[in-house]
Amino acid sequence: MTSDTLKKAREYEERVSAYIMDAERPAFHLSPRVGWMNDPNGFSFYKGEYHLFYQYHPYSTKWGPMHWGHAVSRDLLRWRYLPAALAPDEAYDNAGCFSGSALELDDGRQLIMYTGVQEHLSHDGVRRDLQTQCLAVGDGLEYEKYGANPVLDGKDLPEGFSRQDFRDPKLFRKPDGTFGCVVGCRTEDKSGSVLLFESDDGFDWHFVTVLDRCYNEYGKMWECPDFFTLGDKQILAVSPQDMSAVGLEFHNGNCTMFLIGEYDETAHTFDRQNVQAVDYGLDFYAPQTLLTPDGRRVVVGWMQNWDTCVSGPEDKWFGQMSLPRELSYRDGRVIQNPVRELDALHGRRVSYSDIPVQEELTLRGVYGRTIDMTVTVRPRSECGYTNFRMKVAAGSQHYTSITYTPLTSTLRVSRDHSGTNRDFVHVRECFVRDRGGEIKLRVVLDRFSAEIFVNDGEQAVTLTFTTPLSADGISFQSQGKTVINVEKYDITPQ
Ligand code: FRU
Repeated sequence: MTSDTLKKAREYEERVSAYIMDAERPAFHLSPRVGWMNDPNGFSFYKGEYHLFYQYHPYSTKWGPMHWGHAVSRDLLRWRYLPAALAPDEAYDNAGCFSGSALELDDGRQLIMYTGVQEHLSHDGVRRDLQTQCLAVGDGLEYEKYGANPVLDGKDLPEGFSRQDFRDPKLFRKPDGTFGCVVGCRTEDKSGSVLLFESDDGFDWHFVTVLDRCYNEYGKMWECPDFFTLGDKQILAVSPQDMSAVGLEFHNGNCTMFLIGEYDETAHTFDRQNVQAVDYGLDFYAPQTLLTPDGRRVVVGWMQNWDTCVSGPEDKWFGQMSLPRELSYRDGRVIQNPVRELDALHGRRVSYSDIPVQEELTLRGVYGRTIDMTVTVRPRSECGYTNFRMKVAAGSQHYTSITYTPLTSTLRVSRDHSGTNRDFVHVRECFVRDRGGEIKLRVVLDRFSAEIFVNDGEQAVTLTFTTPLSADGISFQSQGKTVINVEKYDITPQ
């Protein structure tokens, strides 16, 4: 039965989305059907299509009582909206249906697990909402909340773990067919942890272990965990809140990290061996992964940053997802590259080889705001060069710059001149591997975003901007002499 709250959201999104022009949205990144979007939810393959749900407040471009928006795609790039899937319409989720995940049950139904947030006034009169894990079961279009919700609540938590910060369940199937799920939780020292729960049938759950804990080392609460195998490693992905910068690896505020290690099935222990940022740009949070039918681990993130969410009074949508990215494990690091499906959207190709660069130059045919472009840079002489700068989304007043400095092996992105009129963070810098002055930058632009994949995916650097679409220029410049190869494809989704 569709509740009145869900019906109202569906009618609203149907009516108001008709006024949003496709040309005003990203072309191959998912944006909300209308209103506000944050985290990816329920990223899964089901009945021959990819499903991507999202944290959704249809009624404004600001965060509000959370619904789940819903879209499907056959190639992870061209999305078709379906009606909103969940609304906060039960006592146990009256303050929102927070993030969660989805997978297919043996009987062919799709199981969603999400965090139900219930309004709660503490004894001292302060509102401290309670968070529990809830289920909904559906057919890919309509979802019914489970009668015995919530399936995990405060009673299932070990001593000292928070009932107010207990959220974002990520489901997975174990090799023996039973179910596992990781959930973020706050511990008595106020910092984050990831709890592991298991179930034989997906409905009846029990606590297994604390997989890893923050101990106030990496931010505070760990949101949106994910747990999966990559190569011969186990990866625990977390999104810490209130992080303090650590060198150029992690930045302040909301961060994303891959904890790389090994999991002992019998002892239920996770041995964390390495820690790596997921993205080194400005706008990337709360990533979630799925396994494609052909065995690829693909991650998608919310292409935003909680501290810089600003929308104008005229805006009809806010927020977008990153490109889905294929993950692999190489030399101790998680590598990310755009899903190979992107190649099928390649249109007109322009390429140049061995172009000497010094003064700022443009290349005929190299422009655009929906493009996939690879630029390889190398020094033109043994003296090397001081820096190499590329401008994208450039017009007479605007540009976003990408600058590589070989001496310090740093890559810097700046949207200071992208047309923003807000004084928040617009610049980010990261270390890249020193390759004797050579660097390979794959830059994917989709109208209001740039995603940069460095040296075949060793790093991903993501940022959004609101630059007018008429600013579609690209230029190259170096202090000192460089030589570049450029291969650019227009992306033309049908
Ligand atoms: C992460 C997050 C989640 C929560 C959701 C609420 O961005 O804070 O922890 O479930 O957003 O919209």
